[in-house]
Amino acid sequence: MPASPTILVFDSGLGGLTVLREIVKARPDAGYVYVADDAFFPYGQHGEDALIARVVPLIGELIAAHRPDLVVIACNTASTLVLSHLRAAYKVPFVGTVPAIKPACAASRTKRVSVLGTSGTVKREYTRALIRDFAQACKVTLVGSAHLAALAEAALAGASVGDAQILAEIAPCFVDDGGARTDAVVLACTHFPLLLDRLVALAPWPVDWIDPAPAIARRVANLLGGGVGGAAGAPREARLIFTSGRRHPASGALLPFFGSQVAAA
Ligand code: DGL
Repeated sequence: MPASPTILVFDSGLGGLTVLREIVKARPDAGYVYVADDAFFPYGQHGEDALIARVVPLIGELIAAHRPDLVVIACNTASTLVLSHLRAAYKVPFVGTVPAIKPACAASRTKRVSVLGTSGTVKREYTRALIRDFAQACKVTLVGSAHLAALAEAALAGASVGDAQILAEIAPCFVDDGGARTDAVVLACTHFPLLLDRLVALAPWPVDWIDPAPAIARRVANLLGGGVGGAAGAPREARLIFTSGRRHPASGALLPFFGSQVAAA
């Protein structure tokens, strides 16, 4: 690995910024290319074949164009489906983002855990296998949200998003079966931590919201080896690319995710 590696972070939209900001904290010395495939957003609404056919060649083009040392698929909907295809097709190391079911179930005291993802992620065999392997004694409720990723994008762009809209998406996570109540909700879509303050405020009762982004950043730092850790700061270079070619209407709002430096491309 070069002393100052280039890391490509990929998502269907801006949700992957919640993963990027943790990686930037761990490796502020690296160069970053963030790609939002907004031309195909939302991934949660596409069938599996369509998503594989879209993402695998697109990542190949991005690797050829940007020559990253490591690629982070900062999207559960894509990672739970295409990671094995990407690893078979390209030599660069990949780090994925998959539902944090194991740590959530290990931490739950009531043994009632909900997994809040896109409709695509909760349907995946990959997600079902994580539950079979790691739920232990927990009852796991899968909640596929059709609209929360788009609401998070809208809020980040400065639009007002009503409490009722958010509550309708998260309400099925809160299960009280008479014996016990949900005490942990896995944020199984990288868009959802963008709304974390609202989720905490609107929750019918307090729960732990499990965001895997810090663990993903640690994995990236381990794979890269060496380098600078801990200190916050602006990265060597940071680019933001939308596959639609658009510019984000509130790009100032995006600066903190990049350690305060970003060049739109
Ligand atoms: N950010 C993506 C994820 O982690 C999904 C949003 C979408 O539906 O495109 O699953």
